Amino acid sequence: MQTEAMQTEAMPGETRRLSWTAMRFYVTTPIYYVNDKPHIGHAYTTIAADILARHHRQRGEETFFLTGVDEHATKVWRVAEQQGIPAQEYVDRIAVAWRELPARLNAQTDFFLRTSDAGHKEFVRDFLQRIYDNDDVYEDVYAGLYCVGCEAFKTEAELVDGKCPLHNVEPEWIEEKNYFFRLSKYQDQLLALLDSRAEFVQPSFRFNEVRSFIAGGLRDFSISRAGQPWGIPLPWDESQVAYVWADALVNYLSALTYARPGEDLREAFWPEVRHLMAQDIIRFHCVYWPAMLLSAGYEVPKQIFIHGYLLLDELKISKSLGNAIDPLELIDRFGADAVRYWCARAVPFGQDGSASLSAIADRYERELGNDLGNLLSRTTAMIARFTCGSLRGGPQGSSALAASIQALQTQVPEDIDRFDITGAIDRVWALVRDLNRHVTETKPWEIAKDETRADELDQVLYDLAEGLRVTAVALAAYLPETAPKILAALGQPQELGWDQVAYGRLVATDGIEAAPPLFPRIEPAAADAA
Ligand code: MSP
Repeated sequence: MQTEAMQTEAMPGETRRLSWTAMRFYVTTPIYYVNDKPHIGHAYTTIAADILARHHRQRGEETFFLTGVDEHATKVWRVAEQQGIPAQEYVDRIAVAWRELPARLNAQTDFFLRTSDAGHKEFVRDFLQRIYDNDDVYEDVYAGLYCVGCEAFKTEAELVDGKCPLHNVEPEWIEEKNYFFRLSKYQDQLLALLDSRAEFVQPSFRFNEVRSFIAGGLRDFSISRAGQPWGIPLPWDESQVAYVWADALVNYLSALTYARPGEDLREAFWPEVRHLMAQDIIRFHCVYWPAMLLSAGYEVPKQIFIHGYLLLDELKISKSLGNAIDPLELIDRFGADAVRYWCARAVPFGQDGSASLSAIADRYERELGNDLGNLLSRTTAMIARFTCGSLRGGPQGSSALAASIQALQTQVPEDIDRFDITGAIDRVWALVRDLNRHVTETKPWEIAKDETRADELDQVLYDLAEGLRVTAVALAAYLPETAPKILAALGQPQELGWDQVAYGRLVATDGIEAAPPLFPRIEPAAADAA
């Protein structure tokens, strides 16, 4: 993985230029705070990132998917204090529940980072030292408000009735000697960056928000905490620890230095990084982080995509608002694929949207169970019955199905490249609905009664099976458990590369039996019935 650019160590303050443009994809989720266990909002970002990563792998790209946890927050430290255990012991325990989140969601992560990892701590110290050496750090007294929920310093203007509107709590007064980062120095550079890269922050209304925030004037921010023993000691003053954001943001780079022992993945993956998150942490990622990178001599991220909030009764789902939904409970009840499907489809990705438990049950039954599951059961049952389980027939180059599949092959990657996860699955679902219509319109059970129409029957069944095979491949990033089941039921090889989204690749086969339901009926939970 050595490249020419790799040998050029940039000096602090100088941008590291990288020439590697191979087909690679690097996607990150925020690293989540571990003051509590995960809720569905965290699962939402992890699912979206996994859909992107799986899709890019299907395209044959070398992909890296990073997630993890943010452990050095004041709120994490306080929970450990309340529980009367050392902070390290607390995070070691709760990290187990957080590792379970991607695993149970069936997210194919390449690395799970913890900010207490030795590799991360060492890298953060080096990174902050580079900023310090670049003369971007100075000492001053911080006197102002701090919201522990946000782990952010607040101005009066950001409060509503004296409270942080996100956490509905009054921020705390903090007065301590801190080290500050010269963010203001980077204002013009950041504006020039945005003006030259319209795709840097997506969707575009978020880009505009970021641009006007920067244009409104940037204030230097504190990058250290004096009164807290929990965190990474600053390399130039070990009496202070790094402010949690000055530590956490760096994870996106640090992971690449120690995720694969003995390998440095920075040159390969850093130029391809896409950060995903909701709007709560947009400033940290779109303003502070690029400025810190410029100061330390790294390229800014390739793209930052801000998705919406999942809302319940108009309120953001969050632990501090007491309306959290446990994703693991949903998985126990509906399975990971159904939860992933609902997250991708329920709310157009990029916009806020309401989440409700009845909506997930409804989509499970109507769309996964009826539209997709029944289509497979009916198709395989008809093949078993009318052609003794053998799939014959062959492609008819001019069929309408061929045209829809061809469109899908190019349009879905285009949607995904715009982070339009919802638009892409909507297209695949349109194919599922077309296939259902095809069954109703062609009535294979009628054709089967007439022996002279045997070729026609083969063709109809071929198209249904072929449509389902393509559907499986196109849905594999969303429904990784279901896609292989569909291929197996159709006696097809487990080939999930994106090139398989093409009409006419169905392999003739025998021995097809009526497939069991993909999404069996779920009895309503006692709580729902009450
Ligand atoms: N630790 C910081 C992130 C540091 S990244 C360098 C943090 N953690 S968090 O646990 O609060 O996670 C916030 C993120 O979780 C959001 O940006 C979003 O990705 C996800 N979500 C949390 N609640 C959510 C919703 N209700 N809806 C959608 N996403 C949600 O901030």
